[in-house]
Amino acid sequence: MATTTNTPNLTDAPSYTDRGRGGALVLVHGFPLDRRMWDEQIDVLSKSCRVIAPDLRGFGCSNRAGAFTIESLAEDVHELVEQLGVKPIVLAGLSMGGYVTLAYAKKYPADLRGLVLIDTKAAADTPEAREGREKMIQLVRARGAAAVAEQMMPKMLSEGTRRSRPGVVNALRTLMNECPPATIEHALAAMRDRPDRTGELASIRAATLVIVGDSDVITPPDVAEAMRSQIPHATLQVIRGAGHMSPMEQPEPVNQAIERFVAECGVRNAE
Ligand code: MLT
Repeated sequence: MATTTNTPNLTDAPSYTDRGRGGALVLVHGFPLDRRMWDEQIDVLSKSCRVIAPDLRGFGCSNRAGAFTIESLAEDVHELVEQLGVKPIVLAGLSMGGYVTLAYAKKYPADLRGLVLIDTKAAADTPEAREGREKMIQLVRARGAAAVAEQMMPKMLSEGTRRSRPGVVNALRTLMNECPPATIEHALAAMRDRPDRTGELASIRAATLVIVGDSDVITPPDVAEAMRSQIPHATLQVIRGAGHMSPMEQPEPVNQAIERFVAECGVRNAE
């Protein structure tokens, strides 16, 4: 796992992996992670299309500092897509990356050949969840990224992954431990303040694939099914033996589902 090198970007330019040829699939990582979470997807899917995986502002190798919102992260992704000239795209996001994906879909629907919403949801934070964000902001200020990782780990992976896939557990912990504390704080504020997008689902025109781990306790299968039922052209793929991090926990079925979907969207290797 984690074969992407994390060489720090010393400029303000976006940091991203760009591999493969043909129509573009853009992968947006979750919190508090970076593009290395997609290593298994990049390796496999770049054989059939062009895969672009950015580090969101302040994450991974991105040297872009300062506060952000979910909408401004979507603007950053849009700027990269424009800069690379890869429209139309299939846009995929996991959890926080899914919030960014939905914000992008609202603002730039014409850019999209398809959407992949992975272990994510459209609803805003509940009052309890907002309180939880505040507590986590205090935690990261007082005790750093490792304390946040410690608190989140039990909910991120299925019991089976935690018990029998130490490589995945360690790779995930490394990503979380390495997230800069200031970025964790900005992301928590951005997620706390994000709008409810449930009412926008019915107006999504792009073909959509919803993916969820059968043991995801952060954004469970019933939440995924509700999204599927509200988006006009959506299908749902439930991944057995996965929690919230289905692309890292069960890369094979996740890759197969995405590969099939991008082919249906007309995205494939140019050769
Ligand atoms: C994520 O995986 O990106 C986060 O768990 C999302 C969230 O906390 O809402």
